[in-house]
Amino acid sequence: MNLSVQLAPRNKTGLELSNPVIAASGTFGYGTEYAEVLDIQKLGAIISKGITLQPRQGNAQPRLVETASGLLNSIGLENIGMSATIESKSPLWAEWQVPVIVNIAGESIDEFAQLAKALDGVPGISGLELNISCPNVSAGGMEFGTNSEMAVKVTSAVKKNTGLPIIVKLTPNVTDIVEIARAVVSAGADSLTVVNTFKGMAIDTAKRRPILGNTAGGLSGPAIKPLALYSVYKVAQAVQVPVIGCGGIASANDALEFIMAGASAIQVGTATFADPHTMLNIVEGITQFMQQNGLSCLNDLIGTANLG
Ligand SMILES: Cc1cc2nc3c(=O)[nH]c(=O)nc-3n(C[C@H](O)[C@H](O)[C@H](O)COP(=O)(O)O)c2cc1C
Repeated sequence: MNLSVQLAPRNKTGLELSNPVIAASGTFGYGTEYAEVLDIQKLGAIISKGITLQPRQGNAQPRLVETASGLLNSIGLENIGMSATIESKSPLWAEWQVPVIVNIAGESIDEFAQLAKALDGVPGISGLELNISCPNVSAGGMEFGTNSEMAVKVTSAVKKNTGLPIIVKLTPNVTDIVEIARAVVSAGADSLTVVNTFKGMAIDTAKRRPILGNTAGGLSGPAIKPLALYSVYKVAQAVQVPVIGCGGIASANDALEFIMAGASAIQVGTATFADPHTMLNIVEGITQFMQQNGLSCLNDLIGTANLG
């Protein structure tokens, strides 16, 4: 049974995963937090919490609200910063079999370039995921991902400063996600993550105030699955690089939907909070589906629901 996927075929070093199930940024810490809860080496890859040049405290509390079928968060990129990531996390990652991809976020194009340069060649880092889609920060973040010119500038600046595979994470909060996808691929993206959270809010009616300290946040979880799936379906038909599906995936069947829509791999975020074993259950479920359907290679399933 061959579940392996290549997520950066255009890059010299490539980014080969033993299976297509990836821990989504911001929902799996730095990987180390979960090492004693599950066998993290069995995952396809781990994407770190979003890293910035300097450490960040994040936004005002409360930063999480549960909604009917999703989770609203406004964490605001709380993280330990670039230097601490290199010094205290990457040596551990270097000992792991599972590839670790670092999610990076800058407030300017220059900050993205600096992050790319500093992380290039650090043992234990297998790729970069560019967060040009964070809805919860006042500078940078989603601003870069909603404008194709800016998205191109960020991608090119990172490309110039690293040989690592580059995954660009797109926001769904745009009129035409395909336009942004095409733009960043032309600027050198090796693959795309589709999608980050959808901007939303919740109101405390007793207080007549927004619940989140930051007023609005990003919606994730089952509520966004059909929306994310359709974005993957559209983007996968428009670009020649691998697409990584993300948004509301909680079961093997969800993952298979994304793969059949054209995703080469998938990320799991919010579902890990409910059950940390979700990702390993998905790997098992995909394997079973392939066995039951007489398939030996995952590639044979990618995009099979795409009728053109
Ligand atoms: C608490 C929380 C923190 C997140 N932090 C980040 C982050 O730092 N960088 C990023 O690119 N995405 C971040 N995300 C978005 C997730 O990686 C993912 O794109 C999104 O939650 C949709 O997937 P899901 O429905 O499986 O959770 C975060 C999501 C949540 C719920």
